Amino acid sequence: MKLFDVYPLNDITIERALGSYVWDEKGEKYLDLYGGHAVISIGHTHPHYVKRIEDQLHKVGFYSNSVRIPLQVELAEKLGRISGKEDYQLFLCNSGAEANENALKLASFYNGRKKIIAFRKAFHGRTSLAVAATDNPKIIAPVNQTDHVLFLPFNDEAALEEAFRSNDISSVIIEGIQGVGGINVASDPFLRKIRSLCDTYDAVFIADSVQCGYGRTGKFYAHDHSGVNADIYTMAKGMGNGFPVAGISISPKFKPQHFMLGTTFGGNHLACAAALAVLEVMEADELMKNAATVGEYLVGELNKINGIREVRGRGLMIGIELPEEMSNVRKDLLFKYKIFTGEAKPNVIRLLPALNMTVTEADIFLQALKSAISE
Ligand SMILES: Cc1ncc(COP(=O)(O)O)c(C=O)c1O
Repeated sequence: MKLFDVYPLNDITIERALGSYVWDEKGEKYLDLYGGHAVISIGHTHPHYVKRIEDQLHKVGFYSNSVRIPLQVELAEKLGRISGKEDYQLFLCNSGAEANENALKLASFYNGRKKIIAFRKAFHGRTSLAVAATDNPKIIAPVNQTDHVLFLPFNDEAALEEAFRSNDISSVIIEGIQGVGGINVASDPFLRKIRSLCDTYDAVFIADSVQCGYGRTGKFYAHDHSGVNADIYTMAKGMGNGFPVAGISISPKFKPQHFMLGTTFGGNHLACAAALAVLEVMEADELMKNAATVGEYLVGELNKINGIREVRGRGLMIGIELPEEMSNVRKDLLFKYKIFTGEAKPNVIRLLPALNMTVTEADIFLQALKSAISE
């Protein structure tokens, strides 16, 4: 059997990884500022993470949600405390798309409505509702097309107010910082406007924190910078540092009913052990603080480099927009300077490193970027 060829690949095989570094099959070392797409939050093969998963594997790796799983309770308590949402409820699943799918569904169960507000350039995943709320017609199959989703301009308060007048909005889904869309920060006043309109019309505010959440911006959820709470937070990527685990954090106003949501694999023992290890390291090593500090340093230094069109983002979620004629820079960073970064259209370099990235590693990148830009 051959692989179903859906990804353009870099001709690199990663065989080993540690902290913010990976090594290929030839022993070549790369600085990883991409984290496999914002997934590596506490660094590759972190010893505490490896040990916690290994220990759990020797006890029990999996059992379904038909029995008590105390690790889930432990995870919910820790996540509630670290994210500052102790009265919220946790539903565990396996991927970002699934988290958003469940959030949109729960919102509709809650208020009985069907209309979803999403935003231009949004990315929410590839399953049916999540992809319908994603602003990319190329990945929406005919069967996923629906008139339930209304796409509005990002950060446009007037358009939002106008859309709410119909009074049939079930939910608003928004990334705190658009990732795939090119690192566009949702403004604090815009998030506050979403909160107030959702309150007025009893609609549900869904904070897609799959990429921008989990401490990446220096606060647990990127939306926290606005000072208001969402009704549901969706999370995945950084949650398991590579182990597939995702979840939704649900405000107390939602009352659960048996079987309204469900999953076979979600919240299994190994996934919980991985997620707990991540939170334990985040807390012990104060990684949110580090993300804020190193992120601020990077943005400050990036703003001094000639040739960059714009620097956007918060903490360790940074977009560097370059002019079109510099379309070689990202490839040069990878193949000449051995640094992984992410990309977004039109010509944006996305930095999504581990949250324990150091200033020394930031300097290595800055030096390489300056050289790549001036070549
Ligand atoms: C903001 C956002 N939401 C949802 C998803 C979908 O997550 P997954 O690929 O785990 O389904 C992604 C993935 O890139 C994302 O960036």
